[in-house]
Amino acid sequence: GDHQIDTDVLIVGSGPAGASAALFLSTLGVANIMITKYRWTANTPRAHITNQRTMEILRDVGVEDQVLAEATPHELMGDTVFCTSIAGEELGRVLTWGTHPARHGDYVLASPSLNCDIPQTYLEPILVKNATMRGTQTRFSTEYLSHTQDDDGVTVRVLDRFSGMESTIRAKYLVGADGARSRVADDIDLPMEGRMDIAGSMNITFTADMAAFVGHRPSVLYWVIQPGSNVGGIGAGLVRMVRPWNEWLIVWGYDIAGEPPSVDEAEAIRIVRNLVGDPDLEVQITGTSLWGNNEQYATRLQSGRVFCVGDAVHRHPPSNGLGSNTSIQDSYNLAWKIAAVLRGDAGAALLDTYTAERAPVAEQIVKRANKSGREFVQLFDALGVSGATTEAEMIEQMEERKANTPAGARKRAAIAAAMDIKNYEFNAHGVELGQFYVSDAVVSDGPASEPLRDAELYYQASTVPGSRLPHVWVGDTTHRYSTHDLAPSTQFTLFTGIAGEDWGAAAESVSQQLGVTVRTVVIGPGREITDLYFDWAAIREIDESGAILVRPDKHIAWRAMVLPSDPEVALRQALATVLCQP
Ligand code: FDA
Repeated sequence: GDHQIDTDVLIVGSGPAGASAALFLSTLGVANIMITKYRWTANTPRAHITNQRTMEILRDVGVEDQVLAEATPHELMGDTVFCTSIAGEELGRVLTWGTHPARHGDYVLASPSLNCDIPQTYLEPILVKNATMRGTQTRFSTEYLSHTQDDDGVTVRVLDRFSGMESTIRAKYLVGADGARSRVADDIDLPMEGRMDIAGSMNITFTADMAAFVGHRPSVLYWVIQPGSNVGGIGAGLVRMVRPWNEWLIVWGYDIAGEPPSVDEAEAIRIVRNLVGDPDLEVQITGTSLWGNNEQYATRLQSGRVFCVGDAVHRHPPSNGLGSNTSIQDSYNLAWKIAAVLRGDAGAALLDTYTAERAPVAEQIVKRANKSGREFVQLFDALGVSGATTEAEMIEQMEERKANTPAGARKRAAIAAAMDIKNYEFNAHGVELGQFYVSDAVVSDGPASEPLRDAELYYQASTVPGSRLPHVWVGDTTHRYSTHDLAPSTQFTLFTGIAGEDWGAAAESVSQQLGVTVRTVVIGPGREITDLYFDWAAIREIDESGAILVRPDKHIAWRAMVLPSDPEVALRQALATVLCQP
């Protein structure tokens, strides 16, 4: 007979979005089932740049060490080379992902965690393993077919691809984390802006010992300008490190308007040797695939009890490395809200803040990634190769940059300017850490603070409600903690100083009244936590007697600049608002 399984949350997909949703929900004690179509996780390396916001989230749920153990470290990520081929001439380099000494401090100051490089083939198993260990029921070879929803829940038809049997899962909420071709998003008719398949890319994975070519300029990305480099694709030819220095992935563009190219082994080897610039390179091709570049985002991310996260709601090229990162961050935004509503701590309206907070991010990253891909045009123009029709013409144009002529000098200046623009792809720290939320789950006291530097390149710490909690190191004589460590996703956290100690009793009382955990952290000498470097005082923007209320996802819900006459009333009001309590 048709056996029905019950759970609180059913997650479709075990990619970065789905597996992290499962991990976050299980960490919060929410019963969940994760189904995924295939018998295992991602089978190609795909996403790899893992930014600081993602790393601090993984730190929060206790898996940062496991990720770092499998990752290529920050130090080896950033000597990004632009060249005619890897063994050939260099056109220039950009120190990327915060590895430039002038930028490194910005990154170290902003977060307890540094970025790293971990291919999806390594990250997904860590997420799935930890989710499953903490309670997720993980079902491989299980395909989502359809769903219906009513006032109390969602009924989902699934196919066991192993046995061919269909069955029904009943959940209170459904999370569609089923990627760029999301059926869940289709089934709830999410409104989409933009287009899919605007350019063609082919991936070639291969093994080859390239230490001699790259070991002295370690990077995860080597960009190659050759005839054909500006056709389709992600801006230029890319040779990407998967594991240093013998596992690699090439991304090469093709014209999506024409016939899809057939890439047999001989053709793959030819492309690899061309881009590497070594006609005799010993290479073993391990896989090839074609994929489309997209520029599409949803303007609503949910319908009733069904939510979509990850590529299901933002589809874009890998430029800026934002895909998997944003997917994990979507799930982090959604998980605590579902947990709070299921526990009865929050009104159902809290769930609507998911779209309010994450749809603007989806739009921003889709536009940013596509703009970055297009900004290779400036480099092609600067080199003078945009209009070149033959390889000889291209080489002649590029040679001109060496000439002791006015044209040569102009070209050198243009190349420098074009390379500078690439910081918006490779050092966009503000894009990565500066997400700001405006919604009913934030008690606003004004717009985000005015940026003092370029808002895409530079992150600016702020405690204006809606901002991500600024990181500084605090602690005691034997321990050092990030402010993020003191505000785990299992609670609300109230930061104050010694003059604000009365907030402690207020928080305890409000906790009991509203049934929500609010932990007070008093930072000051002689207290549990000391402002070791006086950095907290410098960054908190509030008076010592004021308070900052931090949500489980470490965005600031509310702040009081000073201690009011009745802190309990002020805090209760703020928390009830943020939790959308009716
Ligand atoms: P994802 O596509 O990963 O997962 C979808 C899941 O849903 C899969 O588990 C699948 O099995 C499952 N599924 C689908 N349909 C189903 C159904 N009907 N029933 C059950 N399960 C179903 N991003 C980044 O942040 N940094 C980077 O450096 C890069 N680089 C990069 C390079 C290349 C070459 C590519 C192609 C992509 C990137 N990305 C990236 C993007 C990144 O890969 C992408 O954004 C994430 O994988 C999205 O994660 P999701 O979990 O949303 O979808």
